[in-house]
Amino acid sequence: MAGSSVTPTNVPVGVLGATGTVGQRFIKLIALHPYFRLHALGASARSAGQPYHKAVAGRWKQTTPIPQAARDLIVHACVPEPFQGCAIIFSGLDADVAGDVESAFRRAEHAVFSNAKNHRRDPQTPLVVPLVNPSHLSLIPYQRSIQSPPLQKGFIVTNANCSTTGLVVPLTALEKAYGPLDAVMVTTMQAISGAGYPGVPSLDIMDNVVPYIGGEEEKLEWETSKILGGITLDGTTFDLHAESPLRVSAACNRVPVMEGHTETVSVRFTKRPPPTPQQVRETLEAFTCAAQAPLCVPSAPKQAIFVHEEIDRPQPRLDRDFQNGAGVNVGRIRECPVLDVKFVVLSNNVAIGAATSSIMNAEIAIAMGLVSL
Ligand SMILES: NC(=O)c1ccc[n+]([C@@H]2O[C@H](COP(=O)([O-])OP(=O)(O)OC[C@H]3O[C@@H](n4cnc5c(N)ncnc54)[C@H](OP(=O)(O)O)[C@@H]3O)[C@@H](O)[C@H]2O)c1
Repeated sequence: MAGSSVTPTNVPVGVLGATGTVGQRFIKLIALHPYFRLHALGASARSAGQPYHKAVAGRWKQTTPIPQAARDLIVHACVPEPFQGCAIIFSGLDADVAGDVESAFRRAEHAVFSNAKNHRRDPQTPLVVPLVNPSHLSLIPYQRSIQSPPLQKGFIVTNANCSTTGLVVPLTALEKAYGPLDAVMVTTMQAISGAGYPGVPSLDIMDNVVPYIGGEEEKLEWETSKILGGITLDGTTFDLHAESPLRVSAACNRVPVMEGHTETVSVRFTKRPPPTPQQVRETLEAFTCAAQAPLCVPSAPKQAIFVHEEIDRPQPRLDRDFQNGAGVNVGRIRECPVLDVKFVVLSNNVAIGAATSSIMNAEIAIAMGLVSL
């Protein structure tokens, strides 16, 4: 994958859903970004018409103050007109509205990078985890060509569900080294912030584990196939890992953790004999991705997978902010008496699981020459 040698400057971006959990993380990251510049913000009618700092008064939940670049921007309704002039649109919209709103922005020739589930299954919409499958962005020109009327600049790219994102990074490293995986069993312990704000009532989650998150297990099971699969030979859609269907069984739980999804994972390889836990450890540590090189995008982590040696790590409170939440933590790699190898994964659901993924996807699309600046 070729990288552009020209670093862009001063790229105006818009954020839809700017007042929410993911939207606030976008604001925080973009305000510090080397070339993205906040240009327009959108949210619901509850927030529209107010300066951003008033719209989020009492619900700014970041550990740093509202960035100056956002404070006085007026929050708009999520319609394309006030976003003219934005080269990139980041969406942290609620799934109840994201589908139609993001389609309208694409029709208005915007490059949309979405966190919502609505377009993930579209056969021509890349579902991209930036540490895993940025090559799927090459379907963007075809997606533009089949819109009615065909588009010059507009497209939609989605990132994955927050728990899928943490899972597929080590799975990709293992498939690259040892060939197709046969089966994966994953049990998640997902943070409360994954449900947005105000999310799960405190009386339901304190002193408790909720063994059900609506739609989550299905997302983990099918998204993994699209992300680990390729593009069909005619370049018109995704093959959903068709050559060697991977069986994924997910059990998803909400736990009283603020940020950071922990997942226990057992893997069976098709390769016999399978790799040893020590080989798996070395493979995960050595894994590098195109976002790091050759693309060298600014939000890529130095290490895509950090393998912990301590027997009781990774832990969400201690490890979720490592590398600004842009990488994935793995630990406790050991033999599995039922499948082959098991380990623990921790990823930051609002960083690499959401806003950081979108930002990195946009950086990669720019580096691949797919965004009109
Ligand atoms: N939280 C996570 O860890 C995470 C991770 C990955 C993906 N996601 C996905 O990202 C999206 C946002 O999640 P979140 O956790 O940030 O949710 P959230 O905290 O509930 O925020 C939702 C945002 O959508 C806006 N909104 C709601 N109804 C709207 C409408 N009718 N028109 C325009 N804007 C509207 C809200 O604006 P107001 O403030 O004005 O109501 C708010 O800005 C969801 O699709 C979610 O599934 C979340």
